[in-house]
Amino acid sequence: MATPTRRHPVWEGLTARGTWGDPSTQPVAAEGVRVLEADGSSLLCATSGLWNVPLGYGNEAVVDAVATALRTASYLSLFRSTHAYAQETAEALLGLPSADRFERVIFSTSGAAANDLAMKLARQWAVLRGVPQRGIVVGLTGGYHGLTYGALALSGDQLGQATYGADRRAVRHVSPHDGGAQLRQLFSREGNRIAALVLEPVLGSGAFPLSPEFLEAVAEVRAAFDIVLIADEVATGFGRTGAFFASESWPVRPDVMLLSKALTNGAAAASAVLVAPEVCEVFDRSDAVFVHAETQAGTPASCAAILATLAEQRRLDALGLARRLACALERTLARISEHPAVVATRGIGCFRAVELARDGSPLDSAEVTAVVAAIRRAGAIVQPGPSSIQLVPAYVFEDEHLAELESAVLHGLDDSWGMVA
Ligand SMILES: Cc1ncc(COP(=O)(O)O)c(C=O)c1O
Repeated sequence: MATPTRRHPVWEGLTARGTWGDPSTQPVAAEGVRVLEADGSSLLCATSGLWNVPLGYGNEAVVDAVATALRTASYLSLFRSTHAYAQETAEALLGLPSADRFERVIFSTSGAAANDLAMKLARQWAVLRGVPQRGIVVGLTGGYHGLTYGALALSGDQLGQATYGADRRAVRHVSPHDGGAQLRQLFSREGNRIAALVLEPVLGSGAFPLSPEFLEAVAEVRAAFDIVLIADEVATGFGRTGAFFASESWPVRPDVMLLSKALTNGAAAASAVLVAPEVCEVFDRSDAVFVHAETQAGTPASCAAILATLAEQRRLDALGLARRLACALERTLARISEHPAVVATRGIGCFRAVELARDGSPLDSAEVTAVVAAIRRAGAIVQPGPSSIQLVPAYVFEDEHLAELESAVLHGLDDSWGMVA
């Protein structure tokens, strides 16, 4: 690779300039479950990229499918039209286990853009049904849906919404941790102004699965108020939680489901929004135009990546792999929990968090960053979470990888807690 002339030509998002790393240790390649850095070191990746590479880096079938589509069809657009690649991919997505509830697919380019378009869809659905006053979209406190304007407004974490002028006048947030009390209160107060409820089945920030009590409250308000229920399965789809889709176990099925991340095993900027027939029907009845399209959404290459990823998921039995890994990961976490820094473990399936405290106080974000760096020095990449580290490994992790991860995490914790001999 060419020698860089500037030290930091890339503006690194989500971190301050003062914390940007040494370019000599930046990643240069990735293979299987490993990331290779410029200085020659090889790190075990326990985050499967950004949770989006569950089949491991460099899946040949996906690489070949993308290359073939680029050679054969180059670029075809979905602006005011469709094409054979998109058609076949939509059919394949709608044919997935428990996706048979859905009727139609809208292609997009990221999880955030999928959330934006889902909010637009729900608000137009209300307008078409003659209830334009129902424009509010409800999300969860602590929820994350991305950083474009709509998704930023909907995200419940503090992510600079005021600074950036994200318009939250038509957004509300309720706690997912109170058994649905705030959700019920909000609907009893403003239910007739609400168009949609958007839920992450597991809050990615901290790996908090929605509780059965909260989901009962969701089913209750869904039955009492005619809303669009949107499952943001950007992170949880395709086996991450031990079900093919995490919302399969909800007491009420979503009307719209958002997929991204594992959708292409990290090979393309792609997302897909699956829409139930009841929602399509409202648009079809008045032959309404849904004003959403993106130049790079549903290109032949991204559709080929999706199709090849789905085929690889079947060939490798991705769900079976994910379930087996989840059991082994549970045992690894039980051993890690014996470290004095660990307060608790959380999450479900292969989507886990290890909560940390020092002298009884939860770690702040600077301390978490230091722990993540110490674990990296010990050979593994883990993700920072709120007072926690998060483990979201590829399903192709084997016993030896788990042993390596356990050792790196324990070394990193020992190092951070001054317990190194
Ligand atoms: C549940 C969920 N929704 C949306 C997003 C945003 O996806 P993207 O980064 O592709 O915009 C994420 C990303 O982590 C996510 O976890």
